[in-house]
Amino acid sequence: MTDGEGHEMAIIAKCRNIAVPEQIVDLLLDPTAYANDRVLQAYAWLRENAPLAVIEREGFDPFRVVTRYADIREISRRNDQFHAGARFNPLIDKAGADFILSINDGSPHLVDSIVFMDSPRHMPHRLLTQNWFMPSNLRKLEDRIRVIARDAIDRMAAMDGRCDFAKDVAFAYPLHVIMSIFGVPAHDEPIMHRLTQDLFGGQDPEVTGAFHALDAEAYAANLHKTVAGFSDYFAALSADRRANPRDDLATVIAHGQIRGEPIGKSAETGYYIAVATAGHDTTSISTATAMEQLALNPDQFAKVQANPSLIPCLVDEAIRWATPIKHFMRSAAVDTEFAGEQLKANEWLMLCYASGNRDETVFDAPERFDIERSPNPHLSFGYGAHLCIGQHLAKLEMKILFEELIARIASVSLDGEASKTKSWFISGIRCLPVTFTLK
Ligand code: HEM
Repeated sequence: MTDGEGHEMAIIAKCRNIAVPEQIVDLLLDPTAYANDRVLQAYAWLRENAPLAVIEREGFDPFRVVTRYADIREISRRNDQFHAGARFNPLIDKAGADFILSINDGSPHLVDSIVFMDSPRHMPHRLLTQNWFMPSNLRKLEDRIRVIARDAIDRMAAMDGRCDFAKDVAFAYPLHVIMSIFGVPAHDEPIMHRLTQDLFGGQDPEVTGAFHALDAEAYAANLHKTVAGFSDYFAALSADRRANPRDDLATVIAHGQIRGEPIGKSAETGYYIAVATAGHDTTSISTATAMEQLALNPDQFAKVQANPSLIPCLVDEAIRWATPIKHFMRSAAVDTEFAGEQLKANEWLMLCYASGNRDETVFDAPERFDIERSPNPHLSFGYGAHLCIGQHLAKLEMKILFEELIARIASVSLDGEASKTKSWFISGIRCLPVTFTLK
């Protein structure tokens, strides 16, 4: 067997007796392959040849890699049979997993977040804030978000036609929106910035500031410390909102009750962390991706300039293209048959959203960035019971930013190479040098 470039490939994993070449597994487990998009080759091979392959690699518990759109959706939909919180989520190697279990009373989750809750706990906790995140409620935030967006574009405009769009615009913007929604004062934003980076940037030494890749134990210890940092900060915020309620999300969380009882400190902290972290890097990566693609595709840029009503489609296509969350894990609750495979209870499954979003059976020419793609049923926000609760907020933030930007910018080009985070969990553009002219 050979790879796309004609090299011989060793065989190591199996799916329905179909062998998976070692190079494919290497790509899947190499954080760098997510930064240079080579993982897309692995996804394409797996979709075609072994869509539920079992991956067995020293240092990791075996897991199945789910790469087809329909399978990812179906497993997400059947949340009673496929649990989000029974095992580690996202993928972690054995050393990291053992360490977390040892410092965390045997629990795989450092954070008691709805992302990792299963039935019957999940839905009542989700419902506490679900309405708050609905478009009808978010409408009242639009003016505030537009002020933050204008501010970001003003800062860009002051940069004499050259900036790092990811760092100077896309990165700070969603953090600023979330913190303003929480009511976190502007002077505390750098603390939040550091904490979110520590939580998700652990695989990328450039993000963590370390000079060599962190080993698994250091990574796990770093996470634990970060969670404690968040917990202390938000406990104080919640105490304040209990004493002085306001019309904000922190007040909704601080007063949250399940069956008449307060949700408790761990679920409360979990909520703050989920919202602060899930809503930050994901949105900034998608925003930077939209700008990168406009710079690379002048025809698309011209189209959206001529017709700004295409901005919501641009936003959706950028979120599909970037797929900032590459995967979440699930585990089978019981022995079950799925797509012709016999799955055993406790089998660990990696739902590769970024692969589903390139599935050629669903998306016409998925490798083409197309701001007129419609419909665009991408999986970047997941699917089913855990479908991203912040999706309307993320899309609203991006829509407003691009409305402000498209109205003012006349041209944009890349001014060097974009670089992306090296991580198999959350990754995407973190540096995007551009030159631009304003109208
Ligand atoms: C482009 C930006 C975003 C992307 C790509 C994204 C992606 C995702 C994905 C893939 C999931 C998990 C779905 C699953 O397990 O089936 C999720 C869940 C979640 N997201 Fe987002 N997200 C984004 C923005 C946001 C924002 C802005 C917020 C909040 C401010 C947010 C808060 C959450 C929360 C709390 C959950 C857990 C929901 C649950 O488990 O019921 N996300 N998101």
